[in-house]
Amino acid sequence: MSGAPIPAATLPVSARAPGKCIVFGEHAVVHGRPELLLAIDLWTQVLASPAPSMRLNGDPAAIAENAYVRTALAALWPPGAPSVDWRTVSTIPRAAGLGSSAALSAAMTAAIFAARGGAERSEVAEAAFRLERDAQGIGSPGDTSASVAGGLVTLNAEGGSLLWQLTHEERSWTVRRVADPGWVWVVAYSGVPRNTGDAVRSVGRRLAEPDGPRLLEEFESVALAGIDAVRNEDRELTGQKMAENHELLRRVGVSHERLEALLDAVRPVAAGSKLTGAGAGGSVVVLPRAGREVEVLQRLKRAGGQAYVVRAASAGTGLVTPGSEPSAPTS
Ligand code: MEV
Repeated sequence: MSGAPIPAATLPVSARAPGKCIVFGEHAVVHGRPELLLAIDLWTQVLASPAPSMRLNGDPAAIAENAYVRTALAALWPPGAPSVDWRTVSTIPRAAGLGSSAALSAAMTAAIFAARGGAERSEVAEAAFRLERDAQGIGSPGDTSASVAGGLVTLNAEGGSLLWQLTHEERSWTVRRVADPGWVWVVAYSGVPRNTGDAVRSVGRRLAEPDGPRLLEEFESVALAGIDAVRNEDRELTGQKMAENHELLRRVGVSHERLEALLDAVRPVAAGSKLTGAGAGGSVVVLPRAGREVEVLQRLKRAGGQAYVVRAASAGTGLVTPGSEPSAPTS
């Protein structure tokens, strides 16, 4: 059961999708290894309204400049269908590793599929993945799957109900639901923008070295132990595995001095912390010690981070209709 379908809707149509952070397994997931993601309660919302020509936030020229919007319209907007103005608003910082491009891809896909007559959630996940991958040139379906599903999801780990399975060339990723332990997390953007494609390619080169296969095995065993720890609601062990995962990410070269400064600042009050997303800039995710959430937030801000207290988003991608909330994640 992949969750509630996206229903049919007539223009104007609005959809929203949550951002994400990666708790375990970024980069290794591109190579088919396990990952755990948390859809976070920061959102991108799109509104498509009839207009004389295709526009982005009122500007016809802006479509060509936004790879995600351009790719979405080229792939999914039916030829001959009426033109629309796409208005976008977002509380997710851009180029920060917190899923802003996945959320834009997922929200646009949902709005377009709604206007085309509705779709299964798994179809939205598949199409949003293709869009993000085409616009970015490389990557896994982790970010878009978390945004479409909401809550917590794993890729390529056993256990939990199956949401969908996605493939690209010889790689395949199985996406499953993980129950939310109900923890409060803190994420913080370092202020250093990063490019996912560049970071993924540089890690790919590192993993092609002779010790690459052994490193991938280590990524896998840390992620699987971490996923079990989250399932068992074991905060201390989850934190320990986050630290081990961060060390592996350092070894493949995607930490950054600004990320290390943020992690140093929270160490005394965190059960665990690590970079999240592609790295080389971007953001950190912190699992605070119980009751120390506000201190974590303050320390991250004092260290120069743009910090947010987040929980697992209780809904994935959905239509926004006046007076209603998008559907809750299903198990
Ligand atoms: C980026 O948020 C996560 C990476 O693993 C890339 C991907 O999975 O597409 C670095």
